[in-house]
Amino acid sequence: MIRVVVVDDSVEVVSNIERLLSFEPDLEVVGTANDGEAGLQVVRETHPDVVLIDINMPGMDGLTTAATISASMPATQVIMMSVQDDLDYVRRAMIAGARDYLLKPLDIDDAAAKIRQVYEMRKSKLAVAAAAEEPVLGKVITVFSPRGGSGCTTLAINLALALRAFTKRKVVVVDGALQFGDVGVMLNLHGTRTIADLAVHVEEMDASFASEMTIAHQSGIRALLAPPKPENAELVSADAVRRILQALRHSFDLVVVDGGHVLNDLLLGALDESDELLLLTTPDIPAIKSAGLMLEVLDALGFAEEKRALLVSMAGRRYGVKVEDIERSLGCKALATIPYDDAGPILAANQGRPMYETDPEAPLCQAVLAVARKLTAKMAGGEEPPAEPPKPKGKKVFSLWGHG
Ligand SMILES: Nc1ncnc2c1ncn2[C@@H]1O[C@H](COP(=O)(O)OP(=O)(O)OP(=O)(O)O)[C@@H](O)[C@H]1O
Ligand SMILES: [Mg+2]
Repeated sequence: MIRVVVVDDSVEVVSNIERLLSFEPDLEVVGTANDGEAGLQVVRETHPDVVLIDINMPGMDGLTTAATISASMPATQVIMMSVQDDLDYVRRAMIAGARDYLLKPLDIDDAAAKIRQVYEMRKSKLAVAAAAEEPVLGKVITVFSPRGGSGCTTLAINLALALRAFTKRKVVVVDGALQFGDVGVMLNLHGTRTIADLAVHVEEMDASFASEMTIAHQSGIRALLAPPKPENAELVSADAVRRILQALRHSFDLVVVDGGHVLNDLLLGALDESDELLLLTTPDIPAIKSAGLMLEVLDALGFAEEKRALLVSMAGRRYGVKVEDIERSLGCKALATIPYDDAGPILAANQGRPMYETDPEAPLCQAVLAVARKLTAKMAGGEEPPAEPPKPKGKKVFSLWGHG
């Protein structure tokens, strides 16, 4: 409903317009007045979408009234009315902030059309302004696994570096493994600021405070570290995790979370806030079984299939299950495989220097770069349609190996 106020010194004109507009189902006269001052008062009280003002009125004239409304209540659109078809009048009305001009006596169809038109103009202007103010939010990618030692931290850190190298955007890696997080040690960062500092001030937190708690790494990425002691993890609630990630989205283009391997409300909080859920499995049957269960949990909780991806870590490991068999068992295609590397990751962890920095050409790093490229393309909307996932042969994950 478009809300209209009519201001004219002639009582008769006002009631006439009111009567005519009452036949228009989308227009409602919410107030009337017979002079400028009273008109201003009614507009202030009713906040109409459109006000029709007679240009010639005793006391405060139409032009002054229009100028006051345009300046103090820009959401209200003014249409000027006059008996004179004079270009100079029109020009002065426009300078006073009027959006359109109507000749009296009003042609009701013309008047209704103009009221709708100025209202729509205002709406689209507001929409454009809102879109311009809307910040471009960063994307959150969470790497997690149902089992410890799967390579989550290794992948999260190297993925953050690959994303930075590939996109040149602002990247932060968040240690979501709150009790025994390794991001700090693997990046050789020793800051005192951690995610716990944000969690205890979550009510006052904004994007810049969240960003200040991150620590710069020489590669150009930043890191939000886990609390220094396992017991401090308790300071961080699931709600805090969500809000911290929301705040980081405002300062960073890409937020990579090391989600760890504990399925609890903290991980679910991070997953809730994530655009991409990267589920990691190693190529051994206990891990694949757990990945299958994790997929079932994600399904049950309603996490969209398009948001999640399976990754096989330590692929090609001796005696490991083949990737095709893992895919068939889990009923989904792997987004990528991260090859097994018996020296690189452990050396990197021991030296606190990520592989992507020291040996970017290594197959592991190239695989991580491929993940970075695929995710970037997907998040930019340029994704190729996913291949048809292989159908599971049996009901459960164990069935492939005859355990089921
Ligand atoms: N692709 C890989 N090939 C061989 N070893 C790897 C690979 N990725 C990680 N590792 C090694 O496996 C171990 C576990 O890796 P990482 O710490 O990244 O896993 P995680 O899932 O974060 O473990 P946690 O659950 O303990 O946090 C480390 O010793 C690491 O060096
Ligand atoms: Mg880890």
